[in-house]
Amino acid sequence: MSSDLVSRGYLSTILSPSGEQWKKMRKILTSEVLSPARHHWLHGKRAQEADHLVHYVYSQCMNSVTAGLVNVRVIARHYCGNVIRKLIFNKRFFGEGREDGGPGAEEIEHINSLFTILKYLFSFCISDYVPCFRGLADLDGHEKIMRTALGIVVKYQDPLVDERIKKLANGCKKEEEDLLDVLITLKDSDGCPLLSPQEIKSQIVELMIATVDNPSNAVEWTLAEMLNKPEVLKKAVEELDRVVGREWLVQESDFIKLNYVKACVKEAFRLHPFAPFNPPHVSKKDTTVANYFIPKGSHVLLSRPGLGRNPGVWEDALEFKPERHLQNDSSSVASTDPNLRLLSFSIGRRGCPGVTLGTSITTMLMARLLQCFTWNLPPTLFMIDLRESEDDLILAQPLVALAEPRLSENLYTSSLSI
Ligand code: HEM
Repeated sequence: MSSDLVSRGYLSTILSPSGEQWKKMRKILTSEVLSPARHHWLHGKRAQEADHLVHYVYSQCMNSVTAGLVNVRVIARHYCGNVIRKLIFNKRFFGEGREDGGPGAEEIEHINSLFTILKYLFSFCISDYVPCFRGLADLDGHEKIMRTALGIVVKYQDPLVDERIKKLANGCKKEEEDLLDVLITLKDSDGCPLLSPQEIKSQIVELMIATVDNPSNAVEWTLAEMLNKPEVLKKAVEELDRVVGREWLVQESDFIKLNYVKACVKEAFRLHPFAPFNPPHVSKKDTTVANYFIPKGSHVLLSRPGLGRNPGVWEDALEFKPERHLQNDSSSVASTDPNLRLLSFSIGRRGCPGVTLGTSITTMLMARLLQCFTWNLPPTLFMIDLRESEDDLILAQPLVALAEPRLSENLYTSSLSI
């Protein structure tokens, strides 16, 4: 499957990462798209989406039909989709969206297709290993599924790219407002566009899939674990009350002091990674890591649960215990682990370039849900069933929980116009 997508120009950074294309894209990502300065520049857009999240969950609490029951997977995935669409296209929704702030049919189709791509991206594909099968029948059926999902994603995204390129070329738009403007206006040393339209479209698909999975999955699992461990939930909410209070909504500037909340999320990264393996790496020379000899040219797949649940490294490895990440000296809890005892963002030249953005999306989602709402089990349940889905590591059943507003009404209604 992977080869087919690369040949169509999509997903080349992730799937074919050894060449010049990867180097060029990686440099653009780190220096132009995900740099600290750019992160700062985009703060207002992230803040709008955090307020919109509160508005949308509040609407669900007030909805007599759903009676306060909230599908956490849906809100988490759509929040991530809203944030990255806002950062790239300066718009939350492709269509109108719903009156209650929820996603419209377009966004639902978009997010579902991104998750389909994620599901099949690294699934086994016989023609990747036996190239003579390439172009023959789609033996495992994955190719058709991926083509359809990618077709849906680009159906929404690519026309916006083409339209923007025209607007910038004919001078209808002058001010740089979002990441799409940034990608289009990048120039090489001769003053020519650094990226072709196809490269921009491809990069946007990658940014989309890189953003929606990990934060939403971590927050869904964290809340599910917390509902079964009310003492953990209570501690996190107490921290928010102590650090932020109930007079205003938690902001990114508060994160530095929200160590318990961050430790909870880190515990979900450790115990419940979204994907079983990190993207394949190839060793460029013979090397030895710990006791393993890795010959040049080996495909290396690191098991994320294998690291995070290793009983040789973690005490009570299968227990959700955020306290294990708290430092004695009260320094801020980092979402990364430089010693690779868990693989949240990984490290090194192939490590995730979106650590800052990914951490802020995840922490904001978790912190706003906990600060603004009291969470309880649905009336029909005594415990959340923490079983993983049969074919991947997500919760087998989407988390549905009872949410009740816990702040004064004006804090929710002031975000209604956002
Ligand atoms: C909680 C959020 C996130 C987590 C846990 C996460 C985790 C990871 C991991 C484990 C990798 C593989 C690293 C490796 O192969 O060694 C990766 C790669 C990558 N991530 Fe993230 N990520 C997150 C958010 C983001 C965001 C928001 C972006 C950009 C918008 C992003 C962009 C990328 C890209 C482009 C790669 C491929 C890097 C390469 O191969 O050079 N990630 N991420």
